[in-house]
This record gives sequence, C-alpha cells and structure tokens, in this order.
Amino acid sequence: MLETQGIRLDVSAAEEFLPAGAIDALSDKVAAVATELAAGDGPGAEFLGWLNLPGNICEAELAAMQASGDRARDAEVYVVVGIGGSYLGTRAVLESLGGPAAGHPEILFAGTGLCSATLDRVLNRIEGRDFRVCVISKSGTTLEPAVAFRLLRAELEKRHGSQGAAEHITAVTDKSRGALRQLADRQGYETFVIPDDVGGRFSVLTPVGLVPLAAAGLDIRALVGGAAAMAEACAGPDLRRNPAHLYAATRHLLYEQGFTTEVMSTFHADLQLIQEWWKQLFGESEGKGGQGIFPASTVFTTDLHSLGQYIQDGRRVLQETFLCVRHAVDGIVVPRDEADLDGLNYLSGRTLDEINWKAYEGTRQAHLDGGVPCLSLEVGRLTPAVIGGLLYMFEKAVAVSGRLLGVNPFDQPGVETYKKEMFRRLGK
Ligand code: PA5
Repeated sequence: MLETQGIRLDVSAAEEFLPAGAIDALSDKVAAVATELAAGDGPGAEFLGWLNLPGNICEAELAAMQASGDRARDAEVYVVVGIGGSYLGTRAVLESLGGPAAGHPEILFAGTGLCSATLDRVLNRIEGRDFRVCVISKSGTTLEPAVAFRLLRAELEKRHGSQGAAEHITAVTDKSRGALRQLADRQGYETFVIPDDVGGRFSVLTPVGLVPLAAAGLDIRALVGGAAAMAEACAGPDLRRNPAHLYAATRHLLYEQGFTTEVMSTFHADLQLIQEWWKQLFGESEGKGGQGIFPASTVFTTDLHSLGQYIQDGRRVLQETFLCVRHAVDGIVVPRDEADLDGLNYLSGRTLDEINWKAYEGTRQAHLDGGVPCLSLEVGRLTPAVIGGLLYMFEKAVAVSGRLLGVNPFDQPGVETYKKEMFRRLGK
C-alpha cells in the first residue's frame, strides 16, 4: 500500500496476476520514459505543459481567475459551454466536491453534445433568471459549444443588448487563434488563455477548469496545491514510491497479460464525472494504432445489479481499478425498528458509509476470486486537495503508460474521422 497526499494505492492483489517480479522488472523502462517526459522529449513533446503546470501557476493568474469567479456571484446561473477536454474536468471536480458552494450561482453545462432536449432544458432553466456564460474552446471551432454559445449569446443580447451581453460573457480560449478568440476580442469579452502546450484532456488545471470552478465557489488554490504536491510525489525515481508510475506500470503489465479493458469502479456516485474525465484521458491518450486499454466505468452498488454479472463471470479480459471514498456523509445511520420485519436490525446503528465500505471490500474480494485483477485507490474524504492530487496522478500515469505502449499520448488523430463525415453531410 502506497499512501500519497491522502490517496492510498494498492496494487498487491493485481500483482498476483502477473509473473513474479514483473513490476520491478519494468522499473528501468518506466524511469526512462519519465526521464524523457521530464526532459521534454519524445512523441507529443509540444504538449507537455501540464507536467509542471500546478507548481508553475503564479499568484497573479490565480487571483485573476478568483476575481472572475467572485464577480460571477451576482448571477443566479452560470452556464459553462464546452465539450470534451473543455468540459469534463470542470464538471468532474464540481460534482466530486458536491456542487457549487453556498451563495454561488447554479452551474449548468451546455454544448456538451447536439441533443436538442438537453439544450432545451438549459434554456428553460435560465428563463427569467439572471445568467452569465463562460464559453470554453481551445480551437474556437468545435461545433457543439459553438452552436450552444450562439443561442445563449442571442438570449443575452435580447436581454441586455450587444454591449450588455458582452459584460455577461467570459471566454477561455487560445491566446491568438480561432473564431472564439476573434469574437471575444471584437466584442470585448473577459478572456482567459489556454496554454498552447496543454491539450484539452490535460487542461483542467488551466483556466479551462479553474475559471468556472472559481465561479462555483470552490477552493481553486487548494485544488492546484494538491496537484502540485502530487506532482512532486510523482517525480520521484523509485517506482514503488511513485503512485503514477506504479499505477501505470501495473495496468500496462496486466494489459500485456490480456486484461485489455480497465473498469474504474466506485461506490461513491459523486465520482461518476471523474470516471468520465478519466475515460477521456485514458481513451484518447492510449487508444491508437490498434492499441490501448479500453477504459470503462461502473458505479456500485447500482451497477452490481447490472454489469456486476459480467465483471464477476463474463469474458476474462477485465482489470478493475476501484476508486473509493471512506467517509462521505457521517450522520446517515440505519435506525432500529422493534418489529424488524425487514430483518435489518443487524445493521441498526451503523452508518451508510460503513455499510458501503463493506460492500466495496466484499465486491473486491468477489471480483478477485472471479479472476479480475483489482487495483485500488482509496481516499478518506474528498477535498479539493485530494481531487487535485488524483487528477495530476492520472495525467502523469497516462503519459507514462501511453509512452510504454509506444503511442503518442498527447494527440487524438482518430477524432477527426467522424467530423469529416458529419461535416460533409451538413454541407460545410
Ligand atoms: O481532448 C481534446 O483535445 C478534446 O476533447 C477537446 O478538448 C474537445 O474536442 C474540445 O475542443 P475545443 O476546446 O477546441 O473546443
């Protein structure tokens, strides 16, 4: 068990599925990959800005983002417009920490797809309520957020006129290129810059995530601080003491043994969007050239009543990484009932967190017995610092495991193919 910044990583049960000594035998290769990353070399080297980002964010930048967030308190609703890497991290952090802080606007997300019903719900939620928009797009040309933003901007202009609308909009985009940058400069929006050397799925600790999270009243300094502390821990040369490297090495070796799908399982439903963020991070980084672990996710115990059957007993290609939270809400206790007709008195006086933890322990043992190598990441409580640490650990891990696979973890050439077909049909 390796404990770093409140996150405990245990790979010992998974190790049983590997040839003896395999993890330690990979140590030199992992160290070589890490050295290459630290030196700014190798495939995708132009997108390594995330590597030292948490420790490099200066106080002036944090203060500017905080000030933007503080100004947003006037609004009842804050609509974040973006997709993929310009969306998932923000929502993941927000939901894992229980939503906006008291006294801060309701946060809605738009531009996350092309579903008219979803966008309609957002438009209904802002009806008659004062709202601000934070539009996030590095390229400035992504169809989904661009369409949503056009509609929201039109609504703001209808209410406040062109100048007034501009005062309700924050744009997070490239420093000089793209349609959104041009529009923002022309209209005079408040803007924040997405660094050139940070790709979408690695951008949650840039203004992409920090500006809307500040608007939600979350402690962005603690989030960045947790990531910075984890960055230090993940820079060490000893594989067994470096959580990102240990996690990357273990899952990579399991993949080589035929465990080609990694299921991230949680018993804490507020982590569902962290799972979605993780799926994008790992899926887009590794899935190329006919290679890569397929990232999937389950939320237990809900999914034990559906996908649990497959995990326990289906095709033996699954490895499972548990992401579990020991304490969520302390005060929920099973009451005693004299009649005990439901037979639950054996649980009376016990907290739901305690019962949930036993469900986790039992499930993990059952899956191990069923032939699923299980890794676990356990935290005591979710805090901004812990979440920041987790985000960074996963970023570093995917960079290492992508390079171990021999792919460029920082590009996503495959995502262009559907766009070509879609745009041809739309007559672009
Ligand atoms: O990881 C990625 O690069 C993608 O998910 C992008 O973030 C996503 O497509 C949104 O792109 P953009 O920020 O350019 O609108």
